[in-house]
Amino acid sequence: MSGPNTDYDPVEVTPLKADEVEAMRDAALAAIAAATDLESLKQVRLDHAGDRSPLALANREIGALPPQARKDAGQRVGQARGAVNKALAERQAVLEAEHEERMLVEEAVDVTLPAERRRRGSRHPITLQSDLIADLFVAMGWEVAEGPVVEAEWLNFDALNLGPDHPARTMQDTFWTEPADHHVVLRTQTSPVQARTMLTRKPPIYVVCPGRVFRTDEYDATHSPMFHQVEGLVVDEGITMAHLKGTLDHFASQLFGDGIDTRFRPSYFPFTEPSAEVDVRCFVCRGVDSPACRTCKGEGWIEWGGCGVVNPRVLIACGVDPEVYTGFAFGMGIDRSFMFRHNMADLRDLFEGDVRFSAAFGTEI
Ligand code: DAH
Repeated sequence: MSGPNTDYDPVEVTPLKADEVEAMRDAALAAIAAATDLESLKQVRLDHAGDRSPLALANREIGALPPQARKDAGQRVGQARGAVNKALAERQAVLEAEHEERMLVEEAVDVTLPAERRRRGSRHPITLQSDLIADLFVAMGWEVAEGPVVEAEWLNFDALNLGPDHPARTMQDTFWTEPADHHVVLRTQTSPVQARTMLTRKPPIYVVCPGRVFRTDEYDATHSPMFHQVEGLVVDEGITMAHLKGTLDHFASQLFGDGIDTRFRPSYFPFTEPSAEVDVRCFVCRGVDSPACRTCKGEGWIEWGGCGVVNPRVLIACGVDPEVYTGFAFGMGIDRSFMFRHNMADLRDLFEGDVRFSAAFGTEI
């Protein structure tokens, strides 16, 4: 019977032989060096340093060795495992740094790149022009009034001294709604807002009213069945034609430029007496050197609208005492104003809905 083996290791355990352990270590180091990313390094760690790796399995064999042999084998395996773990840690650090660097490059945001932009809408030039005009008057302390575009015949005509047989009614070819006996029209002018205002509030009245109006006009370069007007109305004590002239001169210079004033030509409107056509001084040639001017066609003046002192009959129809109050009123075409302000040739450009046209004016405020 052989006794316990106390001499130096006569037992050969293959996995613990020096060259075997070295081979395991070298295989592990080679695999570690070959790992190109953190994911593959993870697999290498499992294969070469995990519980079932050759070195771990060799380590388990150590216990079976006689005590003296254990020390040598333990050192050998321990050193090999130490070298593998160290190499793993180093490679891990290198790959992590590489990863981080790559992320910095890949996730970098170039703030100078053009942004993906949605095209911004813009307000219609006529809306902007209407707002601009309203603002001019609000700046003088006036209020903005509004009325419906589908209007009672009485307010559109009768209250404004345009009785059923008045010849001036035919000047404004009217869209009637059905049934005809309801006497409802698409308003042909913004003037019914005058009547509405006087019927609902007491003087002093200082109102401006931009809005849409309708007439059965042909649609061409200078006409449209729908267009825009701005109406002004003042009713107060002691109001004269001079106040009207001063107001319109101020309006013209604000809209068309410093020094642009107006002139009156005698005219007729049923709701004003006296009445005048207003011309605005040509803002291009200013009336100087006018023969060559294309904007005013050599006139030096451009037709702008109508105005006058409010007819006492209108005041009475709307419940205002003409013995106490007088007033003035005016009405201008907004589209017309816009057209000659911007030298437009064709009115239809305003209504065709082409965004390239609107956008060209859309930034104006
Ligand atoms: N309503 C008139 C038109 O459409 C314009 C006008 C003229 C308005 C004189 C007024 C005014 O307020 O006083 O032709």
